[in-house]
Amino acid sequence: MSKVKVLRLPSQIGETDMSSGVAVVIDVLRATSSIATALTSGSTGVIPAANRDEALELQPRYPGSLLCGEEGGRVIPGFHLGNSPLEYTPERVGGKTVILTTSNGTKAVLGARDKGAVRVFTCAFLNLDAVRDAVLRETSGRDGDVFVICSGSHGRVSLEDYVCAGGLVHRLTLGSLSLDDSAQAARQSYLRYQGDILQSLLDSPHGRYLEVIGYGADLPHCAKVSVLQTVPYLAEQIIQDYAAR
Ligand code: MLT
Repeated sequence: MSKVKVLRLPSQIGETDMSSGVAVVIDVLRATSSIATALTSGSTGVIPAANRDEALELQPRYPGSLLCGEEGGRVIPGFHLGNSPLEYTPERVGGKTVILTTSNGTKAVLGARDKGAVRVFTCAFLNLDAVRDAVLRETSGRDGDVFVICSGSHGRVSLEDYVCAGGLVHRLTLGSLSLDDSAQAARQSYLRYQGDILQSLLDSPHGRYLEVIGYGADLPHCAKVSVLQTVPYLAEQIIQDYAAR
């Protein structure tokens, strides 16, 4: 029977054998919320880049693409967009490829890809139910564990990622998947916040930091649960909607 495991930090990716498994990367504030929003707004795909230089190198290969991302939470000077999901409107990203670099989230996606998972999804509160459905589809009738990876913040566990991981785990227990101890613990955290997800973002140091630097409006957006149907997955090096594969 497939097991669900939660990695509280991307540093655990290195010690984890993900071959034949499914990886789900979570960065609620804000990379995976932005990715889900961008695809929902009609972006043709999101290319994760490890850093600013890699994003700049990738851009000429995708004419018309947008350079997007943050450093220290703020838009990178000279880039088209930052990492606020509210910026990823149909007017701005519709029909365009987004090249995205963020401090933790895009690095976690690339880390999971390099560990040989058969599928790499990205997940946020925004698309929890849709990702649950896709994970159940990918695991039905075959062996292989599910690795839920919290991106954290500069090597520290992020409360909102952990609670979101627990929300996914909670939904997956309705299928035929068993949980390891870390998944059980994440689920308990989710159940504590289930009635007020926004509070988990407000209780998080990174959420408070985003408020201080002027991105407080992102928190209520990123706290919405299962309002998007988009399931981002990594196809080669571009994140696209699983439904359109
Ligand atoms: C990250 O990758 O750490 C985040 O998405 C940072 C942010 O934009 O808040």
